[in-house]
Formats: sequence, structure tokens, C-alpha cells
Amino acid sequence: MPGAVPGPAGQQSLLSLWATPLGVHRWARAQELNPLLARVLGSLRAVSQPQPAPFFASEDDLLERIRLPEWQDFVRFVVDSLHATVAQANRAAWPQPAPALQVHLRGMWFQVANQGASHDVHTHGNCSWSGVYCVQVDEDSVRVADPLLGERNGVTRFYGPYFPHLGGAHADLGNAYLQSAHVDIAPLPGQLIVFPSWLAHQAMAYRGERDRIIVSFNASVHAAQGGDRLRGYAAA
Ligand SMILES: [Fe+2]
Repeated sequence: MPGAVPGPAGQQSLLSLWATPLGVHRWARAQELNPLLARVLGSLRAVSQPQPAPFFASEDDLLERIRLPEWQDFVRFVVDSLHATVAQANRAAWPQPAPALQVHLRGMWFQVANQGASHDVHTHGNCSWSGVYCVQVDEDSVRVADPLLGERNGVTRFYGPYFPHLGGAHADLGNAYLQSAHVDIAPLPGQLIVFPSWLAHQAMAYRGERDRIIVSFNASVHAAQGGDRLRGYAAA
């Protein structure tokens, strides 16, 4: 591993290993798309949930169910954003020049929340990358003014790889670096977060004047030609 070899005697180095990649993107045409998408998703929800409840999650078949040109442009933006983040995250792992890619969206769905509804901690399976796009939420000044939920109203909370190591709750100055084990990303209409599917996350409780509407997806990423495996298994 580059950097793992000690330097000359008397010198020291620090390896900061296993960073968590997370891409943040903004859809330039969100103001055009989001109101339209909110209406379309509202119609789809009404079919499955005629009596609105505080929480709704659709089936993961949005790619087959929505046929608008604005939607097709949005899906291209999602694929391009995935491509960019995945290429950056794998720059050191892939052979160079980087291989041509096929990005496969393995399912896309939407969720609607209000009245304090949340989505508990989870990861996504059968994929390597996932994402969440914010369609609608209260303006920040309104959102954080909720007397009970405050700043965390409707945020997406990501739990980093250090989180499980907080078991036992030993905390001193020596492990202060462990203690920022989660990060909250505020919902912002038009913002897309692309994250590794293994990364535990949670939609925190939301309460607002407008429903919190998000579109989520799973994806796998493959070489356009040949196999995906970079290394063979060593012979025993
Ligand atoms: Fe999720």
C-alpha cells in the first residue's frame, strides 16, 4: 500500500484510512421539475393510499411509471451524478485510464412524511450505491423553527463506520475523533445525495407545513465491457 512504508528513522507519518465517500449534487432545473413531480407523485400516492397518512412509501417502480420528458432529464442527471461520484470515489482503486461504465438503476421510489413521521436506521441491499433527492420540504427558516424537532427536523442522518465502535461509550480526548460518528444533511429541494449503499442512515422525524417528499434509488455500476472484478482470487 502506498504510504504504508515507514519513512527514514526519526520521522513519523499518520495514515488516515477508510474515508467514506458521499457525493452532493444539485439539479439545475429543480424549480421546473419539483412542483410537477410533487403533483405526479401525489397522484400516484392517492391510488395506493386514498386516505393520507403521516408516512407513505411507494413501490420501487418509478422508472416504469413516469413518462414525462422532465422526468427523463432528471433520470439522466441522476445517472450522470452517480457516474461522477463513483468515479471520484474509485479513482485510486480503478486502473487508469478509468474503464467505461454502465450505471444500472436497480429501483427508484418515493416517500412522503409529515406529522413527525420518520424512517428508522437502515442500509440498502443488492446494490453498491444509493441516493436520495429532495423534491419538497419546508423552507429552512420554517423547518428549523419547529419547537420540538428544531435543527434536526426532516434531516437525513448518516452513521459513519465509527458509529458501532462507540459501544461502551468510553469517551476521552484520545478518541475524540470517534465522537463525530454521524452527520446530518439538511433537506434542500433539488439536492441529490449519492452515498454507498452500506452506509447506515435514517430520515429523522419531520413535521412541517408542506410534506417532505423525497425520491430514492439504488444502483449498481459495471464495466461496459468484460467483468467488474479487478483482482482474481489467490491460489491456496
Ligand atoms: Fe434509505
